[in-house]
Amino acid sequence: MCGIIGYAGSREPVGIVLEALSRLEYRGYDSSGVAYFGSDGKVSVARASGKLSRLSEALQGTTGIPDVAIGHIRWATHGAPTEENAHPHRSGPIVLVHNGIIENERALRRELVGQGYVFSSETDTEVLAHLILRAYREEGDLSQAVRKGLASVEGSYALAVLCEEAPGQLVAVRKGAPLILGEASGEYFVASDVPAFLKWTRRVMPLPPEVVATLSPEGLSLCRLSDGQPVPAVFEEVPWDPVQAEKGHYRHFMEKEIFEGPRAIMDTLEGRLGEENSRVFLPELVRLGPNPTEIVFVACGTSYHAALLGRLMIEALSPVPVRVEIASEFRYRPLRFRKGAWVVGISQSGETADTLGALEVARREGYLTVGVTNVGGSSITRETEAVLLTRAGPEIGVASTKAFIAQVTLVWLLALYLGRRESSEVRDSLGLLVRSPARLEGFLGAIVPAEIDRMSRQILEARFVIFIGRGVDYPLAIEGALKMKEITYRPADGYPGGELKHGPIALVEPGVLVVAPLVDSRLRPKETSNIREIEARGGTVLTIGPAGSGPEDLVPSFLLPETSGWDGVFFASAVLQLLAYRAAFLAGNDVDQPRNLAKSVTVE
Ligand code: AGP
Repeated sequence: MCGIIGYAGSREPVGIVLEALSRLEYRGYDSSGVAYFGSDGKVSVARASGKLSRLSEALQGTTGIPDVAIGHIRWATHGAPTEENAHPHRSGPIVLVHNGIIENERALRRELVGQGYVFSSETDTEVLAHLILRAYREEGDLSQAVRKGLASVEGSYALAVLCEEAPGQLVAVRKGAPLILGEASGEYFVASDVPAFLKWTRRVMPLPPEVVATLSPEGLSLCRLSDGQPVPAVFEEVPWDPVQAEKGHYRHFMEKEIFEGPRAIMDTLEGRLGEENSRVFLPELVRLGPNPTEIVFVACGTSYHAALLGRLMIEALSPVPVRVEIASEFRYRPLRFRKGAWVVGISQSGETADTLGALEVARREGYLTVGVTNVGGSSITRETEAVLLTRAGPEIGVASTKAFIAQVTLVWLLALYLGRRESSEVRDSLGLLVRSPARLEGFLGAIVPAEIDRMSRQILEARFVIFIGRGVDYPLAIEGALKMKEITYRPADGYPGGELKHGPIALVEPGVLVVAPLVDSRLRPKETSNIREIEARGGTVLTIGPAGSGPEDLVPSFLLPETSGWDGVFFASAVLQLLAYRAAFLAGNDVDQPRNLAKSVTVE
């Protein structure tokens, strides 16, 4: 939800800020803006509604003086996505960008209006600009003004603030929304996410919550928001390869990221398998003590679907019972899990407000919490007792693809870790997992694009698409439907195959398309019956499975390699992702930045 960038250094800043914003575009894309110092010593603000390209065009040839600058890309919460509501917002010399939601905005706005402050936008952010100006008039120092101005603010924020009267200073602070600092020689960055400045530096430090950072071309200082006490800055090198955050020869990030699935599996396995791949090590979990009495997954969207697969895997390989909960619903029920249960939050971004909120409640109730995330240093890593990193590298496309593959890898590893090492099932399953990256690579390399396009066109022509599946095919079906909805905007839904006859089958008639992944070999006869029922009612069925998986006289519409276990999940996921990708592309949609969505959902 919204992306922020701040720069302090000795290079022309407008180009840097615009380029950084282009790497944050996945976080929001309904308006954007920048603020920078001009040669007259004044702060210039430029804003535009719509995609970032409109701002870039408007600013072509514009330069700022080497100093500090800020930029913002917006996903609207308060107020329409107009130029007036775009950030930066200004109050006198104070200019700022904000990500988050100010909960007591109405009360603060009333108070400020009563004191003569004039509002020119509907955003909650403008309140912050006026509060900081009021404090600046009293304190005469930007960092102190930010601390004092925020004292009465309730809600979440990540802020980057400039002051026309204090050139060479950029103040940043966060509470409940992410900000990462970056350090290069003679330059400092602050951004909502690492890819924003990965091109210039890999030395990063997640800004701790309620710590105020003052960046200048000369250096960086940190202090506590509450009492101004200094805080040390400790930077670390992130392993992310800057090339991973580029599209390379691919047309879209989503396409590139689908093809990075094998590497995501491989990197997630790295260092977690014993000698000759004989066993799974997850040393991150050792500090939690004995194995859990129960696992409770909490997650949203695609991550929730990975958790559903995790349940099947853990229950198949270990005696540990598993529940899976939608994070946004978790807080509204009493938590009555077994003593010794682990509550495991899965979140690609590590910033999803619903998942973080659920984990917070679980922790408060005395459960041990584990974070499974793709982003080291994200909020989930600070708010859980143990962290398991998936290592998919930066995922830029809003539709999650390789991150899902890495999450499935991780929950599979967790199932093996909790399973009995000496059991042949565990050994065989581990062997299958270890061979998966190479097999998936080979499979992706052999896919004939025309075959995907043929099915994608059928999807676009259908009035409604129903995804069905049983066993492991059920999470795959609902993930396939989610992918289809979010980037093609076509009506699609996913159901357990057995549920069809309890209602959704009423939708089936000519013109309705059913997509059925057929990976779960145990349940094939039952899935076959569902397919027959749909065909009998005039629906068309596309099946995705290995040879022999469909009804006897049919070859699957899309043939997967032979599978003897869960590796089929990787193959089928890749096909479902490619189908959605190509359908969205053929429909002329913006694949990487689908409407109304944002990559990390930091509001509830
Ligand atoms: C996936 O394609 C979606 N963009 C979305 O459902 C996503 O998985 C969800 O918002 C959860 O995000 P997280 O994994 O970062 O917590």
